[in-house]
Amino acid sequence: HRDLLGIAGLQPHEIMFLLDQAEQWVSLNRATEKRDDRLHGLTLINAFFENSTRTLLSFEIAGKRLGADVVNMHAAQSSVKKGETLIDTAMTLNAMRADVMVIRHASSGAVRLIADKVDCPVLNAGDGRHEHPTQALLDALTIRHRKGTVHGLTVAICGDVLHSRVARSNILCLTSLGADVRVVGPPTLISAEVERMGVKTFTDFNAGLDGADVVMMLRLQTERMTGGFVPSLREYHQFWGLTPERLARAKPDALVMHPGPMNRGVEIASSVADHPERSAITEQVEMGVAVRMACLDVLTRRRRGVEGWE
Ligand code: CP
Repeated sequence: HRDLLGIAGLQPHEIMFLLDQAEQWVSLNRATEKRDDRLHGLTLINAFFENSTRTLLSFEIAGKRLGADVVNMHAAQSSVKKGETLIDTAMTLNAMRADVMVIRHASSGAVRLIADKVDCPVLNAGDGRHEHPTQALLDALTIRHRKGTVHGLTVAICGDVLHSRVARSNILCLTSLGADVRVVGPPTLISAEVERMGVKTFTDFNAGLDGADVVMMLRLQTERMTGGFVPSLREYHQFWGLTPERLARAKPDALVMHPGPMNRGVEIASSVADHPERSAITEQVEMGVAVRMACLDVLTRRRRGVEGWE
């Protein structure tokens, strides 16, 4: 079987294929009758070892709209709390004959570990600081919907890049689709690894926003700042919060994005997050369901005897 562990494993034409596939589900999701039974009889297990609202619910809704039987495992209410290992948990789900698994875990690489052990396709719903591929795909679809294309656009990814799997997946996805990607943030929150990914880095917020077509804000992930320096939230907003004044440095029609959950008044001012024309934040959530339907469909095709990816 083929998994979706990261954008790193995808060719540009495969990314485009998934985005094109997602378009049909955008239309279906806007209709009153939101049903397509192509995954009828298949069991989708969403195993989340880390909290989630958007990703978990959109995978659940995506699976149900495609007719699958969907089961959610929340680690906090599972035998993981009694000391069961990650691999034993994965083998238990495998023995229940899942047809596709969606996994989120706080450790980078944990999803690959599971994918190597189980018999069904595995989709990465976010692993540590590593990757969040369906987030990057839904972000690309949102940009394409609002701007018509991703190619040639200047995208500024701003804030806590160091701890962000969303930033890593988006850098890979958007550069692959021909965008000019910039990373903008304080030097303490930009990793050397990101600098090696071939994007321009800016430690001056205003300069990084200059002429941007898309401003993608990232959540300040204080929960990942273990043992390190944790900035004061008020100070962070003062220097790195996206305010209407700062947004004025970007293009007049620049799109504002945020993967959520947002820290209002920290990395983004409410007036920007809720801006009726500029903010695409709720559209990102809508595209998330369509992208996850496309991924579940494509990755289970071989299992359903339909021509797939492999
Ligand atoms: N963007 C995102 O992954 O949100 P959740 O943590 O709520 O799933």
